[in-house]
Amino acid sequence: MTIFTSNRGLNLIHLNPILICILSYGVAGERVVGSEYVKMTPAAEKNIWSATVNTKSFEILINSNAVLLDVLRDQVGTLGVKRGCDLGTCGCCTVMIDGEPRLSCLCLAGQVSETSITTVEGLAIGAHLAPIQACFAKYGGSQCGFCTPGFLVASQALLDENPSPTDQEISEAIEGNLCRCTGYQQIIESIQEAAKIHRGEVAIPGPASDPHPDPHPGGPGEPSMPPGHAK
Ligand code: FES
Ligand code: FES
Repeated sequence: MTIFTSNRGLNLIHLNPILICILSYGVAGERVVGSEYVKMTPAAEKNIWSATVNTKSFEILINSNAVLLDVLRDQVGTLGVKRGCDLGTCGCCTVMIDGEPRLSCLCLAGQVSETSITTVEGLAIGAHLAPIQACFAKYGGSQCGFCTPGFLVASQALLDENPSPTDQEISEAIEGNLCRCTGYQQIIESIQEAAKIHRGEVAIPGPASDPHPDPHPGGPGEPSMPPGHAK
């Protein structure tokens, strides 16, 4: 520390800002206070987090300050939950917690331990799309698709509670979800069509387009080379 009191030391300070950082903060991000080292960013405690996600039980070790969106994407693996703004303004990260739509970017995972969480992956019925998913596909409720998981979850939460919503009630249910592609009208139509299916008035629509036939039903063969090229 004599370096700070001698003239030579002062010159060093002026000439070498990297040296100042190393002396002030230490090489491991710790600030030197007298002869003690104080952690600048104390590590979060680890806790066991248990919840049911899409009907599967999870018990995982998380940081006590972990955000639900991060836990779902990075540890549970439900990548259908999208990170849009990370600020609670876009609705991309909407999930259902015990049936209620919530923004997972604004929710600490520890606050929703022991709950039942439904993400967009949990809406499908086995290998088949849920009515709300099929209707978004058929009626243009999804275009680029980035906002779609949040809309689907928010819409499903509405239909679970109210299978005969008015357009106004739909607008209110999705007012926290932003879409830059569709103009919202097709989303409202998709939800109204899904509501008809929930009420048993119409059947689930088929796929928007027929599946393409498999061009290689016998599996991939030898790659064909252009004429004039040896194999
Ligand atoms: S990512 Fe959560 S509201 Fe935008
Ligand atoms: S479909 Fe592109 S943002 Fe909504």
